This record gives sequence, C-alpha cells and structure tokens, in this order.
Amino acid sequence: MKEFGIYVHIPFCRSKCYYCDFISFGSKECLWDKYIDALIKEIEFNKKKIGEKNITTIYIGGGTPSIINSEYITKILSIIKENYNIKPNCEITIEVNPGTITRKKLEDYKNAGVNRLSIGLQSTNNNLLKEIGRIHTYEQFLETYKLARECGFENINVDLMLALPNQKLSDLEESITEVIKLNPKHISVYSLILEEGTKLYDMVNNNELSLPDDEIERKMYWTVKNKVEEAGYRHYEISNFSKPGFESKHNLNCWNQEEYIGFGLAAHSYMDKKRFYNIINLEEYIKNIEENNFEKNSFVEEIQNDDDMKKEYMMLGLRKIEGVSIQAFKNKFIDNPLYIFNKELEKLVNEELLEVDLDNIRLTSKGLDFANLVWQEFV
Ligand SMILES: C[S@@+](CC[C@H](N)C(=O)[O-])C[C@H]1O[C@@H](n2cnc3c(N)ncnc32)[C@H](O)[C@@H]1O
Ligand code: SF4
Repeated sequence: MKEFGIYVHIPFCRSKCYYCDFISFGSKECLWDKYIDALIKEIEFNKKKIGEKNITTIYIGGGTPSIINSEYITKILSIIKENYNIKPNCEITIEVNPGTITRKKLEDYKNAGVNRLSIGLQSTNNNLLKEIGRIHTYEQFLETYKLARECGFENINVDLMLALPNQKLSDLEESITEVIKLNPKHISVYSLILEEGTKLYDMVNNNELSLPDDEIERKMYWTVKNKVEEAGYRHYEISNFSKPGFESKHNLNCWNQEEYIGFGLAAHSYMDKKRFYNIINLEEYIKNIEENNFEKNSFVEEIQNDDDMKKEYMMLGLRKIEGVSIQAFKNKFIDNPLYIFNKELEKLVNEELLEVDLDNIRLTSKGLDFANLVWQEFV
C-alpha cells in the first residue's frame, strides 16, 4: 500500500525561542479562531485533490499546537476524518510544549485519536533553557511527561538539542541520562542550526554568546549515539532514535520520498512529482481563504523530472542509517543506482564517506559526521 501523509501547521507559540526560525508567532491570540476556520476550509477544499488516498500518518506540528485550546485540535481531526480515508493504524502525532499542557488537553487529544506525542524539552538544565528562550523548566517537562503517561500515551518522543551556547558535554550527558530513565519510545536529538534572523544568531555574531566548536559538536553527537544505543534505542536517522517498531512514520515517509499534503500557514506538500508550499503571511493566508481564493495561498517550489526525483531519493534516503536499498530504488525507478550514480558513489566510497554492499548504499561512521558533504553530491 502506498503511504500518504497529512501535515497540519499551527503557527502559534507563547513566545519565540531564540534559536527558532520556524514560521510561528508569539502573540496573535486574536487570530486563533479565524486561523482555525481558514484551516478547516482548506482541509475540506482539498478533499477532491487527495481523492481516495490512504492516509497513514497525520502530524500536527508548529509552532506549538498545544498552546491553542484542545477543542480546536478535536475539530481539526474530526474534519480530517470526515473528509479523508484514514487507515485504522494511522499514526497521529501532536507536538506539545511543556508549560502549555493540562490534563484536559491531553484527554481531549486522546479522545480525538492522537496516538503519539512529541514533547520539546531541548535540555534538562534550567539555565540553558532560559538562555535559549524556552518558556518552561525541566520540572514542568517532567510534569507534562507524567500527565501524558497517566492519560494513556504510550508512544512519546522527546526532543533534545546539542551544541547549544554554553552547553557542556556533561550537560548533554545529563539530559540524555535523565530522558533515558523515563523510557520514551522515541528520542530526537538535533544539532543546533544557527539560523539567520534569529535572536541567537545576533547574539553569537555580537560575541555575546559562543557556540561549541565542530570537534566538540561531533563529540557530543557520538556521546549521544553511544548512550542512547546502549539503552536499547535504534539509531534510524541522523537525529532520531527509537525503540524497535516505534520509528516515526511521519519522518520515514519524508525520507522515503512518499507523498504528503500540508495544511496551514507555510505548510509544504509533495504530490505528483511537485513540491509546493503555502503562503507565510498569516493575515493573507486567512483573507485568501475567507474570499475562497485558495490558489492564491499555494506556490510551486519544484516540478521534478525523473532525474531530479532519483537524486532527491538518494539525498533523502542517505539520512536513514539503513541507507538506500538498491532493490527499492530499482523497484521505484526501474533503474540501477549503482550505474546512474557510478561517479558520485566511487568518489564518496574512496573518501570513506559511503559504503556500498549488495543490498544498500549507506553512510559510514565518517559519513555520519560529514553527511552534508555526501548529500551535496546529489544536489
Ligand atoms: C518544529 S519544533 C516544534 C516543537 C515545539 N514547538 C517545541 O519547541 O517544543 C521541533 C523541534 O525542532 C528543533 N529545532 C527547532 N529549531 C531548531 C534549530 N534552529 N536547530 C536545531 N533544532 C531546532 C527543536 O528540538 C524542536 O523541539
Ligand atoms: S522551538 Fe517550538 S516553541 Fe520555540 S519558537 Fe520554535 S516552534 Fe515555538
């Protein structure tokens, strides 16, 4: 069965974290109602386009989806279920931020069919949390986690970050150790990307803060990998670890170049060899939908030919630890990646960044450290 995903974007947060450049706003409560009305109209409008596709994953992300009233989430999920063909074992994830959660919200999510939570923690060190502009403490995270388990959520992901300003290896080790003790099914550990236009970017450029150098960052990465693997998690993608069978379907769909549709502000979609994205201006997004000008909200990013698709399939597939299956490539494209990418593969194998066996093309340990260099070859 072909996989098909739905992504829903909730662009609201309590305040902006200093490192974050996701499309989200710290103060637009007065627009919540209108935004959800528009979102619902967009979901209904696209029913024709998606037809009878089997939906295997729904991901409500942001922003902070848990900041808005849970009745909105219930409404969104019921409209999706009314209009689309949701498979019985569909993974339904919502991102939640400690400091925005109540028992009622969690119970409402559960009743609405949410079966996976992704909780943003970033660090267990309260000073670090403050320095990156998080709205919560470690203790609030623990409270959220406990409530989530009490409300019956089994499948929980915890997000952590590494290479934060002033973060020591021992801070990171402590964060990992504490999170492992909770035994979540999934742990994501993202290496900080210093994004232009963020408060952190300015602070680093003005020498108010400094970041760990590349060597320490790599040491942090390998420390995380070793500790988390020792605790029984499977490292299945550069930044993602899970207990066996709890890999995120939403993420895997993206890396396997499966199709998905995104609803809401700035949401991205991939269908019929086309990548497109929604407008990023909140007021215009709402206005266009209120005036039934749905097309005005959508922009084409890329129309792929077969060569583009093959290269992208390699790039995305090499994010996964198992790499690109040569047989899966042949099945999808009726072509052999070993011939098409002969030159690129030879170069990367000689540089010890890639290994190729009869079944798979995958990153080596050195390749894990220099993944960007590998992906570059397939742009
Ligand atoms: C889309 S965010 C939403 C999660 C939720 N709003 C929260 O912050 O708790 C998902 C994750 O991306 C990661 N992230 C956000 N900005 C990042 C950056 N600049 N570099 C690395 N990771 C980042 C954080 O770990 C965050 O939890
Ligand atoms: S990291 Fe999450 S909570 Fe912080 S600003 Fe970005 S989306 Fe909002």
